[in-house]
Amino acid sequence: MTKKQGDNVEVSLRPPSLRDYIGQEKSKKALEVFLKAGIQRGGSIEHLLFYGPPGMGKTTLAHIVARELSSDLKITSGPAIEKAGDLAAILTNLNDNDVLFIDEIHRLPRSVEEALYPVMEDFALDIVLGKGPAARTVRLNVPRIIIIGATTRMALLSAPFRDRFGLVLNLDFYTVDEMAQIIQRSAEILKLPLLPQAAVEIAKRSRKTPRIANRMLKRLRDVQEIHDYASIDVAALERLFDLLDIDSEGLQNIDKKYLHLLITKFNGGPAGLSTIAVSLSEDKQTIEEFVEPYLLQSGFIKKTTKGRVATKKAYDHMGLAHHYAASADASPQQEKNWYNTGYFDCSGGEIGIHAVLRRLCSNAWRFKSSPEHIQIYANLWQY
Ligand SMILES: Nc1ncnc2c1ncn2[C@@H]1O[C@H](COP(=O)(O)OP(=O)(O)O)[C@@H](O)[C@H]1O
Ligand SMILES: [Mg+2]
Repeated sequence: MTKKQGDNVEVSLRPPSLRDYIGQEKSKKALEVFLKAGIQRGGSIEHLLFYGPPGMGKTTLAHIVARELSSDLKITSGPAIEKAGDLAAILTNLNDNDVLFIDEIHRLPRSVEEALYPVMEDFALDIVLGKGPAARTVRLNVPRIIIIGATTRMALLSAPFRDRFGLVLNLDFYTVDEMAQIIQRSAEILKLPLLPQAAVEIAKRSRKTPRIANRMLKRLRDVQEIHDYASIDVAALERLFDLLDIDSEGLQNIDKKYLHLLITKFNGGPAGLSTIAVSLSEDKQTIEEFVEPYLLQSGFIKKTTKGRVATKKAYDHMGLAHHYAASADASPQQEKNWYNTGYFDCSGGEIGIHAVLRRLCSNAWRFKSSPEHIQIYANLWQY
């Protein structure tokens, strides 16, 4: 398939209206009210900011907003605007009511961010003419545009910048049920005879991320072209999952490498992001933006002040539970991590000396009796 055809499929899979946009109910509702009020006031709405992991539907939502407002959409991104002059060039090509979508807005250079403030507030751009003592600032009027920012890294946006958006919406991971609906919808567009149970199975393995589900469906279409199934059931999907090397929890090679490393090399953690990235020969940003969000959300890792820690679920899923036995030489800090990640489960409100004793007896091999260890147990059990 050529790139162009692939892009067209991408476009056609995008839900064209809020009605077709599945899930994210809270954000959708807020946006609906916001747009309705804006349209009633004559079409002018405040600037919008969408944040959430990659592939959640931020760009899609920007297209929908532009369509609802009958506005033209111009797309750019943070790294593409290197200086205030680039911003001026973009703005002069826009008209009143156009929507300017700035993807990866956290990557805008500081100087451009500051140049954007008067654009957002007063529809004016301050341009510095000349250099040194002779320099002066002139203020240009710019069209009354609506800026939609999107970011995967909300924390990197400065507070004054965030405050200039009238509505900030968080797009979060989808439920399996919502994913299954998205998958059914995309399958219909791609003319794949997908059975409902098979849609659920793809939903479970697509990291609660529509973009990943859609990508899997496109690969499934390749498989379908060869095998021409009358209907695609769970058994038929196995071929696809094998092909893509995706396991029952939707983990891919890189995720499994990450967990394996954290458990075997770093004793379950805590390990810092940079250390993990170097050991995996990946850059920090890839790990932080593409790998960790899903591992965190699915409860395979936890973030602590000291670094990343593998949870019991990770040990179990990776078949590395025997690594716990190594706790004979665990440091107090390591034991604390195991507690924090639920390995020593104290559910059911059984907090207190009885629970401690009971667990001490049944799990004697995991406990140590140094005064330091005992103090930690006591603290952790709030006794
Ligand atoms: N709520 C949704 N309902 C249906 N499809 C969706 C939804 N959100 C995203 N998608 C699909 O997922 C793909 C990725 O979405 P996109 O908007 O590009 O994500 P982002 O900009 O957040 O990285 C799109 O092609 C779109 O078809
Ligand atoms: Mg996007």
